[in-house]
Amino acid sequence: MRLQVFDSATATAKAAADRVAATLQADPGLVIGLASGRTPIPVYAELRRLHAENGVSFSRAVTFSLDEFAGIDADHPGSFHSFLQQHLLAAVDLDPTRVHFLNGQAADLDAECDRYERIIADAGGIDLLVLGIGVNGHIGFNEPGETLAARTHRVVLHDATRDDNAARFGGNPAAVPREALSMGMGTILKASAIVLIATGAHKAACIEQAVRGPLTTRLPASFLQTHRHVDVYLDRDAASRLSSPNPERG
Ligand code: F6R
Repeated sequence: MRLQVFDSATATAKAAADRVAATLQADPGLVIGLASGRTPIPVYAELRRLHAENGVSFSRAVTFSLDEFAGIDADHPGSFHSFLQQHLLAAVDLDPTRVHFLNGQAADLDAECDRYERIIADAGGIDLLVLGIGVNGHIGFNEPGETLAARTHRVVLHDATRDDNAARFGGNPAAVPREALSMGMGTILKASAIVLIATGAHKAACIEQAVRGPLTTRLPASFLQTHRHVDVYLDRDAASRLSSPNPERG
């Protein structure tokens, strides 16, 4: 894992956006996986700016949303479909036929997960995956547990994750769906390159565990250590527990 630490959340977001834009300019047909959540909001804002002011084009890119809540409409304000439309997709020159989401309202959610795996494979796999991390170490909606799923799958969300997502559901954790669909750990680890972004002191502990801790299903992000090409973009607060000169020995 390659770690980069920046002075502020804004500088972190700018560096991550520059990385995505540079990769896209080198490979205009880039297949990009996109996380939702608070962390990437300034990253996507910077990508919108780079599109509007610097001519960065998404016209040949392909996108896949990382995850989605089950049981809500795509245009529900809490859906990740709405989130990505609002923060990135509607404001850049993506071809709508190359923009892919999980359908949380599919009649058969397992078949929907299979469909998603198929269309990711048909696109040639994900070239660059933009990830955030939950305070419990989840990536996508791969929650900590005894086991982890390899493929895109249905997930029962932990209460802490539902609490964390309440803001998009009128501030009411009970309104956050209990289930979600998520790319699996294998889907994530098959991406050619991964950009993991974390900002804020509340992410310091999970980042320490993900980067320096043992591989464990109890902290799904720890498996990113096994990937050959992960760039971790952190602000000083999120990196604050990594300062030990010999961190591997604690
Ligand atoms: C959302 C996702 C989640 C978030 C994580 C952090 O698509 O995949 O894993 O990245 O919950 O969320 P924020 O950025 O809101 O702290």
